[in-house]
Amino acid sequence: MNDDLQRFIDELRARVSIVDVVGAKVKLTKKGREYQGLCPFHNEKTPSFTVNESKGFYHCFGCGAHGDIIKFEMEANGLPFIDALHKLSQQAGLPMPQLSAKDKKEEEERKSLYDIMETACNFFERELRMPDGAEGLKYFMEKRGLSKETIQKFRLGFAPNNNALMAHLKAEGINEKEMKELGLIAIPEDTSRRPHDFFRNRVMIPITNKQGKIIAFGGRVMEKLEPKYLNSPDTPIFNKRRNLYNLDKAREVAYKEKNLIICEGYMDVIALDRYGFGYAVAPLGTALTEEQIMEAWRVCPEPILCLDGDSPGVKAAMRAVDRVLPILKAGYSLKFLFLPDNQDPDEYLQAHGRESFGALMKKTKPLIDILWQKYTENEDSSTPEKKALIEKTLLAEVAKITDATVRSYYAQEIRNRIYLAFKQTAWQKREYTAPQPRTYSPRPQPTPVRTTPAPAPYNPPIQNQEPPAYLDNIPISDPLPMPKAYEPVAQQRQRTPQTPTYTRSNNGYGNNSYGNNRYGNRRNSYNAPRPQINHTISNAPETLRQSADGENDKNIRFMIAAELIYPELIDEYEEQLLGSDIKNTKLKELLETIADIYHDTETPMSSEELLEKLSTTPQNQQIKELWELDMLQKRPPFINDLRRNIDKLLLEDKLRSLEEEIKTLTQEVCQNFTEDAYTRLTELKKERDTILSHAAEPEI
Ligand code: UTP
Ligand code: MN
Repeated sequence: MNDDLQRFIDELRARVSIVDVVGAKVKLTKKGREYQGLCPFHNEKTPSFTVNESKGFYHCFGCGAHGDIIKFEMEANGLPFIDALHKLSQQAGLPMPQLSAKDKKEEEERKSLYDIMETACNFFERELRMPDGAEGLKYFMEKRGLSKETIQKFRLGFAPNNNALMAHLKAEGINEKEMKELGLIAIPEDTSRRPHDFFRNRVMIPITNKQGKIIAFGGRVMEKLEPKYLNSPDTPIFNKRRNLYNLDKAREVAYKEKNLIICEGYMDVIALDRYGFGYAVAPLGTALTEEQIMEAWRVCPEPILCLDGDSPGVKAAMRAVDRVLPILKAGYSLKFLFLPDNQDPDEYLQAHGRESFGALMKKTKPLIDILWQKYTENEDSSTPEKKALIEKTLLAEVAKITDATVRSYYAQEIRNRIYLAFKQTAWQKREYTAPQPRTYSPRPQPTPVRTTPAPAPYNPPIQNQEPPAYLDNIPISDPLPMPKAYEPVAQQRQRTPQTPTYTRSNNGYGNNSYGNNRYGNRRNSYNAPRPQINHTISNAPETLRQSADGENDKNIRFMIAAELIYPELIDEYEEQLLGSDIKNTKLKELLETIADIYHDTETPMSSEELLEKLSTTPQNQQIKELWELDMLQKRPPFINDLRRNIDKLLLEDKLRSLEEEIKTLTQEVCQNFTEDAYTRLTELKKERDTILSHAAEPEI
């Protein structure tokens, strides 16, 4: 092997991902640092085949198969060495080096596969201008409204009926074996029947690879016949799952325009190009594949998937969600554009023109919206169990995202939407959707005095509304440290009261992907600068901190501080807080005062206003001593981080009081057994275990 070839191979290994190469044939799942799948070299039911991306090799612990990208192409895909190199060089976008005489001969033979396709394409193009092809030309020009230039640009053609291609290729010295290999002719199994052209009496659309070489064809009937399109089968140079129609031409434009449209059909791509959107591609007769998405990402990080808005289009969007979730990575996604009236881009452009389509392109939906829609639309959420099911299903989908950072933001956003969708009672809804001023403000009582109207039917957040302004104004926050799972009380008690430690991370809310919510009308109050309080941790009296013995106190103080920073939390947690067991009467009174003041105004209150009102109450001193408030003001966390933390704290408190009760009851049962006490004890334990098993579920 010459040095050039060796260098070339090294370069290939560096550029082409072994996971991509193997993944095209074997379904791989990530297991730690490696990928795992069923070995393609021997029959197995449990995976013993591993792929190591950083080392660039695959290895089977079952049969011992072992090798790199080239060996895999040769052994798993049956390609000769040179073909394997060629396939990989295309993938890597590397030109092949000078080869030895023997290598060259093979190289030339292989190259001829592209030449044959080129010859066939020329033939179809010529036929379109022949009397035989008149029908095809008429179809393109009159039925589809294409110009001569477009026909030329896309090299459209016509396949006549009489095995003319086979005859033509034969005359060019090409044998039937190669024609068959390229899917240009069909050889019937029944040997009494003669081979014949694969494409007959169809208009022809050539499919190119990224380098612009013809690798396949799509042929369309001109009448209403089924199947409408016939596509080349997979061949040594064509893989329909990997290629995208028009990527060679769209690539340049897409780079320039920083945009890429993925639509459904060939004719859509051609129509889009005709109307000035030269950056469109389409899958090739299959639903969009992972490979195609990754191919598209090489050109544009957030391609627009353009679909019709009726049910097949929506189904296609849902399938795309399934495909894309596992492979999402930071910065890379899909956007969705649904066209109205069951139209495809071709039909839409003809009906409404370029401008109108351009305007639609500004109204794409982010992936998270489609995911949300997929699992909430038309879902019954009338009971807590059904709500729980929706949440579980959504979070299970989120768990499919391999990239940890993207996954955590998805989990956050989904929880966020769940809060907004499910956590609002009808009472709150009325508060926030009604135009100001507010008409209703009494503070609800802890006892079931409040007769809440029947829960309003669940409405998923309306998409594409402006995010609430306060999201823009919150500085990049440091989420509070979160207990991973419930820790036994004893262990927690040993810890000294800590100052939270922070890890830096972006809150990810820079864009518009936020659904509707009920705080939309609070823009003004949150545009105001954050309230400043004239005390700091260092000058705060120590009394409150010292008196904070129980975990319960600590938790309640944190929640109070959270409410003072985000007053809307007062509403959200009022019932739960009042229902919980707050031992410290001073804190309980403070909570009630805050709620009273909050409920005592006509318009929703900002943190600043709330603090100002509180400063005239006897509890002002208590607030000054709240070092948690000071801490939160210094580095305001994102509201949903607070909600998550509060949920955990409430759960912890609940557990703590359950455990105390269990302890007392156990003693009672031991000393003086009664059936009732025993039953109650069993119930309490069951409740505790349910909470514990839930808390032990891994954080997504
Ligand atoms: P559509 O049925 O949406 O057709 O198929 P279209 O693209 O709008 O085509 P026209 O406008 O009727 O000519 C979308 C894509 O699905 C594949 C083709 O790739 C097509 O472009 N397809 C469709 C097939 O492969 N076979 C078929 O029979 C139909
Ligand atoms: Mn169409």
